[in-house]
Amino acid sequence: MPEKKQESRKLDHIELALKAQTNKMEVDQRFYYEPLFAAHPSEDSDISLNFLGKRILAPLWVSSMTGGVGPAKHINQNLARVCREFGLGMGLGSCRVLLDSDTYFPDFNLRPIIGSDLPLYANLGIAQIEQLLAGNNHHQITDLIQRLDADGLIVHINPLQEWFQLEGDRLKYSPIQTLTKLCSLINTKLIVKEVGQGLGPKSLKALLDLPIVAIELAAFGGTNFSKLEQIRGNTTESNAAFSKVGHTAFEMVQFLNSLIKTNSNYNQKQIIISGGVDNILDGFYLRENLNFPSVIGQAKNFLNHAENYEELRLFTMGQINGLKMANAFLIAKEERSL
Ligand SMILES: Cc1cc2nc3c(=O)[nH]c(=O)nc-3n(C[C@H](O)[C@H](O)[C@H](O)COP(=O)(O)O)c2cc1C
Repeated sequence: MPEKKQESRKLDHIELALKAQTNKMEVDQRFYYEPLFAAHPSEDSDISLNFLGKRILAPLWVSSMTGGVGPAKHINQNLARVCREFGLGMGLGSCRVLLDSDTYFPDFNLRPIIGSDLPLYANLGIAQIEQLLAGNNHHQITDLIQRLDADGLIVHINPLQEWFQLEGDRLKYSPIQTLTKLCSLINTKLIVKEVGQGLGPKSLKALLDLPIVAIELAAFGGTNFSKLEQIRGNTTESNAAFSKVGHTAFEMVQFLNSLIKTNSNYNQKQIIISGGVDNILDGFYLRENLNFPSVIGQAKNFLNHAENYEELRLFTMGQINGLKMANAFLIAKEERSL
């Protein structure tokens, strides 16, 4: 039997070699490949770390997505289950619907699935926060976090999406005013993110100066909600132009690395590198280059596999093994050397 297997493998090699040619232009220039210095990773290879006060088993994060609509409960439950199985952290999708009613509570009630040891954060948009603060209703935010038994709150800052969405909200105050007020009113762990167009250096600095625990990049290059609104049919010429505005995760890593040189205390903030992380080597490269404690976040890629738990498991396992292999055999070149 083993001989037969070997024979068929050799046959594959002859048949497929011609199809397996590479073009020199395709080489991934971001890494030194050093095959000499490690054994293959195993189940026991430890890539765990402390993140947001909890121990996670790999630097991976399921970025905020959904809830409050047909398939969301099943998707969210699978995502929480995979986090539990592999020891990862997760952000909930916008929990706005829970402010008015408990109808969709089961979509978001993931603490019983993910367990108490892993990070799980609630999520609200800056427009809802502004409205809650205007009505002196900030207790609703702490109630929400308590009901979900979440570790804290992610606030998404999405002025472009709100503006281009027909049913979108209008901000009466700048997000930094609202965030500053929020920080003074509630005592919970806060993470701030965009939703797919990233944040410029001035905004990043302002966030680093706030008493929040983490920033999620939600950078340009992946899911883009201005574009999504365009596809939904809310098309104007300026909408199309604005959907191309933003910062890639690579550019944001450069901004953050420049900012940390101005204040070494900034490294007490943790970063979720997300937005257009196409594959695990993208995440590995950015994380190796970022001079902050960080994890790699993905939304669309997890969503792609989330309907079927076995598929989601295999995807997640592939991500974790990919990270271990990268740790073993790759060295990321410094970002400025590219
Ligand atoms: C289906 C879907 C729904 C999303 N909903 C939210 C949301 O409710 N709140 C939020 O902060 N971000 C939301 N996002 C944005 C993601 O968290 C993330 O910032 C963005 O998609 C970039 O990651 P990606 O390129 O890996 O998809 C959503 C993304 C997707 C794909």
